[in-house]
Amino acid sequence: MTAGSPPRVLVTRRLPGFAIDRIRERFELDHHDSDLRLPRQDLLRRVRRAKGALVTSSDRIDDGFLDAAGPSLRVVSSVGVGYDHIDVPACTARPVLVGNTPDVLTEATAELTWALILSAARRVGEGDRLIRRGDRWPAGLAGMLGMGLEGKVLGIVGLGRIGRAVARRGRAFGMRIVYHNRRRAPTEVEEELSAEYLPLDGLLAKADVVTIHTSLSDETRHLIDADRLALMKPTAVFVNASRGAVVDEAALVEALRSGRIFAAGLDVYEKEPKVHPGLIDLENVVLAPHVGSATIETRTAMADLAAENLIEGVEGRRPPCLVNPEAWEAWTRGNSG
Ligand code: DGY
Repeated sequence: MTAGSPPRVLVTRRLPGFAIDRIRERFELDHHDSDLRLPRQDLLRRVRRAKGALVTSSDRIDDGFLDAAGPSLRVVSSVGVGYDHIDVPACTARPVLVGNTPDVLTEATAELTWALILSAARRVGEGDRLIRRGDRWPAGLAGMLGMGLEGKVLGIVGLGRIGRAVARRGRAFGMRIVYHNRRRAPTEVEEELSAEYLPLDGLLAKADVVTIHTSLSDETRHLIDADRLALMKPTAVFVNASRGAVVDEAALVEALRSGRIFAAGLDVYEKEPKVHPGLIDLENVVLAPHVGSATIETRTAMADLAAENLIEGVEGRRPPCLVNPEAWEAWTRGNSG
């Protein structure tokens, strides 16, 4: 960049709506205008000397990326609420601001969670496949029975924004809410949702539907393993729309295959976009390709917010959704001295 020329930014994916126009009119834009992931080598080459990068959860932001970008990099703005693909301490140490897009995707992700709960409990995917194959329809009164939800217990692991939105919908289905969270929720939240706090193992033993809404960290990796799956009811439905690695996928396959639990609905996988072959073979699991936030309205709002985080960071203001305020403090200290 020469003096007076606009700052360089990299955007690693095609964006819905008009977010890209807002970025293009301000900056020298390098845009990977594609729905496909930018290969790592290209990512590292194209981020060189950028002042900002707008990325997605499939771009790994680590020391290799930060070194390739060089000291001009001021902000990494990620489209999505989860930031387990970003080494936040490494960014903070430089300091590089990290932005994400919470709130705008809460309702859409809760809706998709319910799509999975209902599909798994009522065997919708299995029925769809049966019809497409031209198989005989279930005859008699005992064919393809699922689980009703009215009066059952909904167990929510992680009562953050999305967990609470799932719980609200659960109340509308006449379910009782139990939850587990690192910290117990404030009384007013428990009262609003009529939600009972339980230790994780107690929740797993009691719930008819277990749904996971934690972020992925060292603490939550394989939080749900074979031992924990063994605590669940044989009639239980298990749902995950958070991060795949919170669950030991091989253990989940075994629990579904052996009938240790009734069914599962998954939007996320341990090694995305790879899916454990055992899951593909099973009838009692419904699979979605990580589309929790994929509605027109939500993805547009996410792109707008990510663009806002990028623009504010590059232009020296505090991004509205900042993951690492310490990096902002370091910047402001550095610039006031
Ligand atoms: C999120 O926002 O974290 C979604 O899962 C997309 O990565």
